[in-house]
Amino acid sequence: MSQADRFLRACRREPVDATPVWLMRQAGRYMAEYRALRQKYSILEIIKTPELATEVTMQPINAFNLDAAIIFADILPVLEGMGLHLEFVKGDGPVIHNPIRTVSDIDGLATPPPEEALPFTLEAIKLAKKELKGKVPLIGFSGAPFTLASYAIEGGSSRNYIATKSLMYAQPKIWHRLMEKLSTVIGHYLRAQAAAGADALQLFDSWIGALSPADYREYVLPHSKRAIEIAKSENKMPLIHFGTGTAGMLSLMKEAGGDVIGVDWRIDLDQAAQQLGNNVAIQGNLDPLVLFAPVPELKKQIARVLDAVKDRPGHIFNLGHGILKETPVEHVAALVDFVHEYTQK
Ligand code: CP3
Repeated sequence: MSQADRFLRACRREPVDATPVWLMRQAGRYMAEYRALRQKYSILEIIKTPELATEVTMQPINAFNLDAAIIFADILPVLEGMGLHLEFVKGDGPVIHNPIRTVSDIDGLATPPPEEALPFTLEAIKLAKKELKGKVPLIGFSGAPFTLASYAIEGGSSRNYIATKSLMYAQPKIWHRLMEKLSTVIGHYLRAQAAAGADALQLFDSWIGALSPADYREYVLPHSKRAIEIAKSENKMPLIHFGTGTAGMLSLMKEAGGDVIGVDWRIDLDQAAQQLGNNVAIQGNLDPLVLFAPVPELKKQIARVLDAVKDRPGHIFNLGHGILKETPVEHVAALVDFVHEYTQK
């Protein structure tokens, strides 16, 4: 079995020669090569120039023995196509200058086809596929309806989601109208990425843990489900459904869809697996902060994650959330190699 097969086989819960590993946000500021490129270009310039996006996609693949690449993009540019004005402000993170709060804001949102709104990422996928030469599969991705709604309504990152939940509870009809628009755009975007050559897809519902399971079921689940159904309506690429703070809603996420469920570190992986049952693969779930530990402790904690699901087919090793920019690069190399070494058949 070649390294090229490992990740996709694990997504399908087939036997593998070693546990596949990739890291959320594996391309980014913890790498000197990325920081060097960012001296010359903004993040949106990199995302919108397929040659640059491909170069950044390849940086971690060339540096580490990873089993999958993820296309360099972001979850937020999709909102630009819908009519929102996005900016990444140094030190402040993403800002939406015209957040949506009213019925007319929501009615005014456009739902353009991805070929029109995000041609650069579709082009980058084609280029990256050529560059990868089949070495490892390429993952395409999108933000999920709730996580994108939270940025669109709050106008940026948020701690308590006051505006988002206020709209959800006070004007449920309008909330559902917004979520329908988002799920349409997201589903078609993912489908187009698969058509452009992505071998697998990941739906990031990063902030879904802000909701109670009951609210997830009522206000979000049908829309995530619809986005996933559209994404998979033309091909059978594996889809990874990821969220954080989801220990109380894993079975609901599974109901919404996905071949693989991505979990964070706030639940033991064997418990997550028990909740999920055997007919779905699992991705995760090392605390990204463990990469700051001395290597022996790092290895101990990686082994704990691997041991928790060692007899269960379908595990993709990953962090429980994105890698931080302060992470020591040597520890990333040590992590990737140790996952393979420890699980080698
Ligand atoms: O994984 C990869 O290597 C692919 C690239 C990728 C980026 N963003 C590039 C990026 C992916 C998969 C994302 C997803 C993303 N973006 C999420 C979901 C994943 C998660 O971490 O929960 C979210 C919530 C965003 C929104 C976003 N983008 C924020 C909040 C920020 C600013 C905060 C930060 O981490 O700096 C970004 C900017 C961003 N997206 C950077 C990168 C490498 C860093 C910005 C820079 O280069 O200046």
